[in-house]
Amino acid sequence: MNKLIEDIKKIDSECTLITHAAAVLGWDQETYMPEEALDERSEQLAYLEGLAHEKFTSPELGKLLKAAACTDENPFGDKSFSETERAYLRAIYRAYSKSTKLPLDFVTEKARLVSQSQAVWAEARKNNDFKSFEPYLQKMVDMAKKEATFFGFEKNPYDGLLDQYEAGLTQAELERVFGGLQKKLVEIVEKIKTKNQVSDSFLHIHCPESKQAAFSTFIMQEIGYDLKKGRLDKTAHPFSTTLGINDSRITTRYLEEYFPSSVFSTMHESGHALYELGINREYALTSLGEACSMAIHESQSRTWENMVGRSYGFWQHYYKDLQLYLSPNLDSVSLDSFYAGINKVEPSFIRTEADEVTYSLHVILRFNIENRLMDGSLLVKDVPEAWNKELKDLLGIVPKNDAEGCLQDIHWSMGAIGYFPSYALGNLYGAQFFAKMKKDLNHVEVDISNGKTKTVLDWLRANIHTWGSYYTPGELVKKVTGEDLNPEYFVEYLKTKYSKIYGF
Ligand code: CO
Repeated sequence: MNKLIEDIKKIDSECTLITHAAAVLGWDQETYMPEEALDERSEQLAYLEGLAHEKFTSPELGKLLKAAACTDENPFGDKSFSETERAYLRAIYRAYSKSTKLPLDFVTEKARLVSQSQAVWAEARKNNDFKSFEPYLQKMVDMAKKEATFFGFEKNPYDGLLDQYEAGLTQAELERVFGGLQKKLVEIVEKIKTKNQVSDSFLHIHCPESKQAAFSTFIMQEIGYDLKKGRLDKTAHPFSTTLGINDSRITTRYLEEYFPSSVFSTMHESGHALYELGINREYALTSLGEACSMAIHESQSRTWENMVGRSYGFWQHYYKDLQLYLSPNLDSVSLDSFYAGINKVEPSFIRTEADEVTYSLHVILRFNIENRLMDGSLLVKDVPEAWNKELKDLLGIVPKNDAEGCLQDIHWSMGAIGYFPSYALGNLYGAQFFAKMKKDLNHVEVDISNGKTKTVLDWLRANIHTWGSYYTPGELVKKVTGEDLNPEYFVEYLKTKYSKIYGF
């Protein structure tokens, strides 16, 4: 290996080791840490994160990247490097330049504001009091505009923010994608509204946590999640986290009055872990071994949660197991009723509880609002009104209060403007990949209905997972499917599925 690349990798891998060590502490904090350990744990985490940041933004790494001839215009570096080395240089240069573009006083000021703002938001949501959060949201919008200037952008300041989460993504591209999608999703929701609602009352019957936990442990292994390289634990908010190259863990939650929450959270988080564990081993401990983007990550979790996990074929094979594990809950419920129940579509206020059809509309609503906040056509004080109007237009319902309206998500209090679109993009990428998978392997659906989901995993591993950060999301979707991101695949998937369930 080239000496220069070797030196860069040395710093890079030290940072990854620190990040993984911090992830162990973070995972422990969310799962088993005793309450009073919190203060010191926060210090331990801040120390390790600071250490990793210091190493990663060091002049030493800067010099090495410069010697490799990496620049904003040509992040791949010198032509004499191999293809993989050039992909590696781009991945690390991108991360390095993002971390060095923000001045230290800005980072410190934002961190301080975030911790205050999160506390104010939590109170404001509890008391349904937007007014108290308004000045903080204003500061976050101002900070976001500043941040965009530090990162740099060509046309729209929003571009500078989006690029952090999805390399190369622009506001104009999102407007193209979401604009068309919004109209088509609303049409599907409208069609469903005219049909008889399906029943899901049998899903809301008490089911002990122990039974749900046993099924979760069973089903995640069935879809290929290896417990020698992971764990399942219980938290209030499910998440997945990577603690090492052979250690990607997940958590789920158990609602005893609504067991599907654990089933689908487990499959969702397993999808994230399967992705992390499927990245090419040769990229381990380097920037190339990171996932491609937030949205690509979300495409993997949603593939397992929805495209596989809420499909008829999957339950043709696994429904008997579920009935057995949860007995007597579903003893007298037919497969067809169960399938319709877990796919019930109903406009609702809370994004995180939304079904597959309305979910992306919740995200588009936030995009529309962020977009206008960034270009100045919407004032912060008018956010609640704009929110309620949007929701009425998209889903035909109006929240009773701001707690179930514009105050519901934590993201804006953390200054994470530009993050929301990833959630909807995940659905779109997922559907486009899945369509290509079916084209490549015409037996994939038969295999799923025979419990052979390995067909799906193998395809995802070979086409998506293995690449890590070798490609940008835009390049990956083009390489895998032969075209740019195209929301039609998601729309078609929904139409085919829900016209059968609702009969339209
Ligand atoms: Co997720």
